[in-house]
Amino acid sequence: MTRQSLSSPLTIRTLTVPNRVAMSPMTRGFCPDGAPTEEVAKYYSRRAAGGCGLIITEAVGIDHPSALGDAGLGEDNIPVLHGDAPVAGWRRVVETVHAAGGRIVPQLWHQGALRLAGTGPNPEARTLSPSGVWGPLGRMTSLAAGKVPADRRIGEPMRESEIDEVIEAYVRSARNATLAGFDGVAIHGAHGYLIDTFLWDETNVRNDRWGGDHAQRTAFAVEVVRRIRQAIGPLVPIFFRFSQWKQQDFRAQLATTPQELEQVLGPLADAGVDVFDASVRYFDKAAYPDSDLSLAGWAKKVTGKLSMAVGGVGINKGMYDGDKGVAAVDNVERVVSRLMHGEFDLVAVGRAVLGDAEWARKAIAGEAAVPFDPNTLSQLA
Ligand SMILES: Cc1cc2nc3c(=O)[nH]c(=O)nc-3n(C[C@H](O)[C@H](O)[C@H](O)COP(=O)(O)O)c2cc1C
Repeated sequence: MTRQSLSSPLTIRTLTVPNRVAMSPMTRGFCPDGAPTEEVAKYYSRRAAGGCGLIITEAVGIDHPSALGDAGLGEDNIPVLHGDAPVAGWRRVVETVHAAGGRIVPQLWHQGALRLAGTGPNPEARTLSPSGVWGPLGRMTSLAAGKVPADRRIGEPMRESEIDEVIEAYVRSARNATLAGFDGVAIHGAHGYLIDTFLWDETNVRNDRWGGDHAQRTAFAVEVVRRIRQAIGPLVPIFFRFSQWKQQDFRAQLATTPQELEQVLGPLADAGVDVFDASVRYFDKAAYPDSDLSLAGWAKKVTGKLSMAVGGVGINKGMYDGDKGVAAVDNVERVVSRLMHGEFDLVAVGRAVLGDAEWARKAIAGEAAVPFDPNTLSQLA
């Protein structure tokens, strides 16, 4: 298998990504008052210079008071994409990444039910969720015990006017992304945050036009995508991250069969998603019985759109498997094999790229990455 296949460019609408390696979105918490600093610009441009053809930024709070807060990970200094300083900061990030030869899209984020009430830049804002349900209790979660509410009911379901306001906020932030020069937008529709709680039957029990069966529960995500597409036009791509697992329930299954997956992703593809980013912990784990196709493979197959794989590339343990014994590993040949078979089109790399800014270039050249140091997860190196 030739690693050079990772070097082939990929055109998505009018964007050409110079190679197939993307930096996965990773919350870092180094943006005081929501504005990326010069250090943040350097952090991203180092990865672009180190061979990541595409950078998906850390999750960025949308322009809505309830978007951000403490979501159980100790979030602080999370970036936003509204207001003069944050937009100027991002413009600088985009310029430095472009100068280093990379492309970059921001990941738009609303924490939804996972935002702890009374926290974040607007503590008075109401924590929003489709049905006032946090999620099922007593499941395996990735959150510390103190961050799981005692009661699964966390307030009133979102009102129609609140749904409209949040969609508008996504649109404003997406428009600002294009004004700041980004090459497209990525939407965080995974991990139990707001969009994902509309998709999931445990948290969306609405019986209006925002709830129902698999396809009907996509209505909110579809409207977000459709309105963003309308606002940013046909030239630039929209990426959409989804996941089976939720922080509220590690073993959740959004779609238990490929047919259900098609019901969830099909309407999103029709609304304007170009690339489905299937968030799993091991990129090549079979998603369903009787086939070795990964979730990214299935996303591509059922939608006919492009897809991106992620999880455990260049690193020996999946995210949340603990820090002990985590080490760099060369499993690039396995990625290349699936890429060459057309199972997916891009591969996102998270921790390995934090550990070594040159990871992508080295992976393509067959050179060893630097030994993984877990401290890089908390630094902006
Ligand atoms: C420090 C850290 C922060 C993360 N923040 C986000 C985030 O903001 N948005 C997101 O969708 N995923 C986030 N993730 C998940 C990564 O994008 C990626 O899917 C995960 O780390 C698995 O890839 P890896 O095995 O290559 O690290 C984060 C992961 C890490 C390690």
